[in-house]
Amino acid sequence: MTEWQKSNWRDLPRVQMPEYTDADALHAVEAQLSKYPPLVFAGEARKLKSHLAAAGRGEAFLLQGGDCAESFDQFSANAIRDTFKVMLQMAMVLTFGAKVPVVKVGRMAGQFAKPRSAPTETVNGVELPSYRGDIINELAFTPESRIPDPRKMLQAYTQAAATLNLLRAFSTGGYADVHQVHQWTLGFTESDNAAKYRDMAGRITDTLDFIRAAGVSNEQAHTLQTVDFYTSHEALLLEYEEALTRLDSTSGKWLAGSGHMVWIGDRTRQPDGAHVEFCRGILNPVGLKCGPTTTAEDLKVLMGKLNPTNEEGKLTLIARFGAGKVAEHLPRLIKAVQEVGANVTWVCDPMHGNTIKSASGYKTRPFDSVLREVREFFAVHEAEGTIPGGVHFEMTGLDVTECTGGVREVTDEDLSDRYHTACDPRLNASQSLELAFLVAEELTARRQNAAAVANG
Ligand code: PEP
Ligand code: CO
Repeated sequence: MTEWQKSNWRDLPRVQMPEYTDADALHAVEAQLSKYPPLVFAGEARKLKSHLAAAGRGEAFLLQGGDCAESFDQFSANAIRDTFKVMLQMAMVLTFGAKVPVVKVGRMAGQFAKPRSAPTETVNGVELPSYRGDIINELAFTPESRIPDPRKMLQAYTQAAATLNLLRAFSTGGYADVHQVHQWTLGFTESDNAAKYRDMAGRITDTLDFIRAAGVSNEQAHTLQTVDFYTSHEALLLEYEEALTRLDSTSGKWLAGSGHMVWIGDRTRQPDGAHVEFCRGILNPVGLKCGPTTTAEDLKVLMGKLNPTNEEGKLTLIARFGAGKVAEHLPRLIKAVQEVGANVTWVCDPMHGNTIKSASGYKTRPFDSVLREVREFFAVHEAEGTIPGGVHFEMTGLDVTECTGGVREVTDEDLSDRYHTACDPRLNASQSLELAFLVAEELTARRQNAAAVANG
């Protein structure tokens, strides 16, 4: 393989990227971004890699979540705070089930560019280029809005920087205190419909009371007051990614400075394509979406390219097959991993294989399908003797009506009430927390099975 350079992707076939018509404007933006500070630092990306390595060994569990697409319009401190808050609640419930630390990674501070299933969209007989995320063009259905504008990259950078700044403040400024996080969860379980989760919440209360009674105060226990919170997004818009890529002087390696972790989408994982070429040279942990069309042969080539030294924590395989399809696809990919002895961290994205059109015409995802895919993912790993390392959700802390189901049930008819997503439907705060409880139950059951087997 030729020596990697951050611009080499430009010589390779690319898909899902905009054709910018104003080359001068594009170059000016790239030059500007190249002078801006990176958003993250190499030491942080390395630390996340070590946490993901632990998740791959079953010594930690990954919770990755956030918007399908971050939006310029809906950018607000409250939206960031609420998603952060629900993720902390979920992480606490999952820690209780998994009995290992939960690694928290937001789809935040950079999740702006979207791959689309069709290049154009037709409404009432009018055909226009598809919306590709706020970093590229605009959602409004007019010809002008859909023209890709490179200047949007600067706005995305600014929004990402402000988002990350707030996340860093929340992570260490007292907001993340475990007792406070648990108080919020109790609020949820007190509602009549969520009564079945009260028992687990009660056990968490007892545990926290015990820690306090044993004399561990918050002031002493720094870890009870602060959290590590990382950011991630799909590395889709490579001009943006390249401009933020910097040499790490400590290691002599290249850091994608746009976020701690980036992933390659299911539509851009061509082994000889531009996206894989870019991602193979960065030191960050990299995710790879694996869908029903991922072949064992491609996966082997991709693992070789993306993690040539077989470093633990470097490569996270994000399975997204759809409920009812995991048993058909996951075992053959697990086999491919085993055949080459690759170190990977397996994560389940139960969102992207479960999108349907509701009777009312909205793109939605039934809560039950999401849960079912997670359960199938765990079951296959248990049968194969491999490790389910985490979950990846499209979710928000806001009270939206985008996915159907859950204890505070969202029906087909409700979807029109608060359907705000710029792209795919997200779990709302209540659905997200409920899912965490159900996944925690699943993790507890699997742990108990494993212990029973170990004790003969
Ligand atoms: C996404 O994560 O928003 C996405 C588009 O996923 P996938 O590439 O798996 O379809
Ligand atoms: Co999505």
